[in-house]
Amino acid sequence: MKVLVTGGAGYIGSVVTWQLAEAGHEVVVFDNLYQGHAEAVHPRATLVVGDLANREQVEAVMAEHKPTAVMHFASYTLVGESMQLPFKYIGDNVRNGLNLFESALAHGVQKFVLSSTANLFGEPQTLPITEEEPLAPSSPYGQGKYILEQILHWLDVTKGIKYAAFRYFNACGATAELGEDHTPESHLIPIVLQVALGQREKITLFGNDYDTADGTCVRDYVHVLDLAEAHIRALNKLDEGHSLTYNLGTGTGYSNLEIVQMVREVTGHPIPLEFGPRRPGDPASLIAGNEKVMRELGWEPRYDLRQIVASAWAWHQAHPNGYK
Ligand SMILES: NC(=O)c1ccc[n+]([C@@H]2O[C@H](COP(=O)([O-])OP(=O)(O)OC[C@H]3O[C@@H](n4cnc5c(N)ncnc54)[C@H](O)[C@@H]3O)[C@@H](O)[C@H]2O)c1
Repeated sequence: MKVLVTGGAGYIGSVVTWQLAEAGHEVVVFDNLYQGHAEAVHPRATLVVGDLANREQVEAVMAEHKPTAVMHFASYTLVGESMQLPFKYIGDNVRNGLNLFESALAHGVQKFVLSSTANLFGEPQTLPITEEEPLAPSSPYGQGKYILEQILHWLDVTKGIKYAAFRYFNACGATAELGEDHTPESHLIPIVLQVALGQREKITLFGNDYDTADGTCVRDYVHVLDLAEAHIRALNKLDEGHSLTYNLGTGTGYSNLEIVQMVREVTGHPIPLEFGPRRPGDPASLIAGNEKVMRELGWEPRYDLRQIVASAWAWHQAHPNGYK
């Protein structure tokens, strides 16, 4: 299959691109390299440097490469920033998605995969969070993703496209070749690993008075290779003619303190820590109910937290300054 991957030079998109290419698919990556890295693109994939905001560039990539499926990872991704810059997240992220969908449809694409987010659930009513949980995005970032899911829904109803929307919980871990390199870095595991690498003095955890066992926030950490596996399974499943929406996580939650403890065990570094105030909008616990994706896609998470942290540690030791 010929797959266009937007954001395929970024963290998750590069791993999915890699897996697609290794499975024999033809992959075209469309990325403006705002957060992405050309070095992260699989050598057999074609990298087109372009911006989804530029409709002509999007049209050109569709016309030249004629993909059969589109995987849409490219996005502004910072929840905190979205509280300051709502237009960037509800405006640009949605407009860029619309540019992509409209152009892809005009060029006959009927299959889409969207990176959505657990941020759609706000402060959830039940744990683990199933696909039946009411949607209540807790930020402009989440709201933008919600709108993109809804647009795909209506393109299914009106134009017959089929799509898979994956609400990721916390993507993490690395492969031998690919790891997480964001500027700024906002994710807990790479930040704690920066302490182990001597690049930060200590880690600040936001809040220790949440309603959780140790008072720190609980999240569901899913290895990026497990995420990639679900995407590839979904591409094939869409041929059955139904759109798909899944929560994608391991079903197990770990507190921030447990993450720090695991990094201590894996790296042997004491990881000094302090507590700061809560961050506005952080729910106490987010844990995926993953029965639906396991049942329907035959997907199963293969990596536990120790393997996730060990894989990330290996990558960061080999690339202490990221891809630079
Ligand atoms: N990392 C997580 O834990 C997580 C959790 C939930 C959802 N997501 C979603 O998954 C997707 C991938 O996340 P990631 O962590 O790999 O992010 P990332 O920033 O590493 O990758 C996004 C890529 O998109 C590119 N990009 C951004 N705007 C673009 C534009 N206008 N035109 C072309 N390219 C553009 C960036 O250069 C980057 O390479 C995002 O949509 C994100 O919202 C991520």
